[in-house]
Amino acid sequence: MAKILSGKIVSARVKDELKKEVEELSQRGKQTGLAVVLVGDDSASKVYVRNKEKACEEVGIYSEVHRLSENTSEEELLKLINELNENDKIDGILVQLPLPKHLDDKVIIDNIKPEKDVDAFHPSNVGKIMIGDYDFLPCTPAGIMELIHESGVEVDGKTCVVIGRSNIVGKPMSMLLLHENGTVTTCHSHTKNLAEVTKSADILVAAVGIPKFVKADMVKPGAVVIDVGMDRDENGKLCGDVDFNEVEPVAGAITPVPGGVGPMTIAMLMRNTVTASKKKLE
Ligand code: GUN
Repeated sequence: MAKILSGKIVSARVKDELKKEVEELSQRGKQTGLAVVLVGDDSASKVYVRNKEKACEEVGIYSEVHRLSENTSEEELLKLINELNENDKIDGILVQLPLPKHLDDKVIIDNIKPEKDVDAFHPSNVGKIMIGDYDFLPCTPAGIMELIHESGVEVDGKTCVVIGRSNIVGKPMSMLLLHENGTVTTCHSHTKNLAEVTKSADILVAAVGIPKFVKADMVKPGAVVIDVGMDRDENGKLCGDVDFNEVEPVAGAITPVPGGVGPMTIAMLMRNTVTASKKKLE
């Protein structure tokens, strides 16, 4: 039986610690604030944004959510971002992705002040992560590192395989594993003999976006298996990129979906916001 790596439990612990830090900052006269910008009506995004708002309440962070219509222009969105950049009450700015098609993510992210970019998506923050000298870690990979630590398995010297190479998860994930001295392979849709590669992994991270993609015969017995997926199965039920029922008996540790990586991503967003707030006091 695999150890279940509960993001619910670990994220609650992280949020408890952050709550104390937010209180201490407040006693020193520094409130902590996060602005979340949601453009359009994507139903998954609405749920994610609501969860971010709730987490702010739990931790004691002031939050404001700007809900903008689907047909918001680039000019209007950039005007809001510039206002938030200059607003002293706001330490962190998060623009929920995906944006409607007529808006260019890159242009929008480039305009967030790097010191308020709590997603760590701005090119300057991405560059800092590459060289291992960063203020913020990207939320999902950072949350995954916490769960890997929770498994008790040391990354140092281990064979790590990441399936997926997105800018938000796959690429930074590989980098964080490398920072902890893992031997890292990044797989993607052009990878040959995928199962052979994944089967070599002591630590396997699946961020493919295909329901139940990782099967038991792709997993090394005893491996730590991290599931970043938020998919729907053939019956419309929430599931991950890993076939949990098949893989759990083979794995040494595994994250559930839901209740694994998702809550950790939000906890790390809270952590980055507190970091941004603290930096203003320095
Ligand atoms: N959409 C899916 N994941 C994320 C995330 O981590 N940050 C933002 N801003 N949008 C997302």
